[in-house]
Amino acid sequence: MALDFNNDYPSIDDLRLKAKKRIPKFAFDYLDGGCNEDVNLHRNTSELRNIQLTPQYLRNFNGASLKTNLFGVEYDAPFGIAPVGLQGLMWPNSPEILAKAAFKHNVPFILSTVTTTSIERASELTEGKAWFQLYHPTENRLRDDIIKRAEAAECPVLVILCDVPTFGFRPRDIRNGLAMPPKMSIANVLQVLGKPSWALNTLKYGQPNFETLKPYMPKGLDLKQLGKFMDATFSGRLNEEKIKPIRDMWKGKLVLKGVASEVDAQEAIRLGLDGIIVSNHGGRQLDAGESSIKPLTNIAAKYGDQIEVMMDSGVRSGPDIARALASGAKFTFMGRSFMYGAAALGNKGGDHTISLLKTELQQVMEQLCCERVEDFPFHLVK
Ligand SMILES: Cc1cc2nc3c(=O)[nH]c(=O)nc-3n(C[C@H](O)[C@H](O)[C@H](O)COP(=O)(O)O)c2cc1C
Repeated sequence: MALDFNNDYPSIDDLRLKAKKRIPKFAFDYLDGGCNEDVNLHRNTSELRNIQLTPQYLRNFNGASLKTNLFGVEYDAPFGIAPVGLQGLMWPNSPEILAKAAFKHNVPFILSTVTTTSIERASELTEGKAWFQLYHPTENRLRDDIIKRAEAAECPVLVILCDVPTFGFRPRDIRNGLAMPPKMSIANVLQVLGKPSWALNTLKYGQPNFETLKPYMPKGLDLKQLGKFMDATFSGRLNEEKIKPIRDMWKGKLVLKGVASEVDAQEAIRLGLDGIIVSNHGGRQLDAGESSIKPLTNIAAKYGDQIEVMMDSGVRSGPDIARALASGAKFTFMGRSFMYGAAALGNKGGDHTISLLKTELQQVMEQLCCERVEDFPFHLVK
């Protein structure tokens, strides 16, 4: 097995620990935390890891391929980079680092509306391959403008989000007074002083900004003002009335992210969406909710032939990706894993993390004697 990555960090957990050492506490807490008591954050990974796979050692095995077709595109692996907001706050320039790595490895990168690189820049870095995740604007004018920008940037897939009808309740961020740009309270200054490479990189790349939203927003908002701006500008509460005009307007593929129930999966099909991401936002919204893997199995079994069913939340390794695919997901995404990688290893972090996950997944397939990604369900222990 060729180990095509930095051997000092052979797991996402290694990257997480290294990231923790390099990021100021307020930013690491924002990345690492769930919501409320973090119950669903942990449930996501623990329930995913309860899934077991069975090998077929005596099969004729001709080698495994990670290649996966999704929306008419052949990707090199069945996983991609989930949209994450405020990325530059956690590691300077991280959205660009990850977009470049995704392009190099031919896997999808999804840009969040509220991250620190613009739609146009992400498209440039990926030669028009980046997907875009839209937070739903309250004003139609703003919605139409952002969608037109995504279209002009040749974005192939628009992702709309249904699992943020209201902001998650995150005690750590409240305690830390998280702000964008970071507020330099004494506590925060002390945290930054202890993280020189984060501070130097922030100086190098400049203060992070919401690049896609820059044309529409006032400057220098603190957490309270930002909350107000976001509340006034976006309304995460989606319904038929809001989805229909987007479907009419957007000619590319349209994906609904944050599906956690069969009813919402059915609605997505009825409203003409092309795909869903079964997700609970990495356990950051509804602490009393189910893990993401739990509803996935039934949703994939019932609707997988009518709509592309993807999944995220809790995935931290090649075996985790295999578990999700065996449970019926066509494709998986990860948020934190890639951010840990970028924060731990800077410019090399995206490349490292994708190579690591590819190697691990390839090993699982060779071990199971599973030649194609679509054959994972045959290895599921029921
Ligand atoms: C720090 C952070 C910020 C996030 N911001 C967004 C966002 O702006 N838009 C979005 O659709 N999802 C966002 N998510 C959710 C991710 O897209 C994804 O659903 C989640 O990270 C998956 O869980 P995982 O981190 O366990 O892989 C965010 C997640 C994290 C950890």
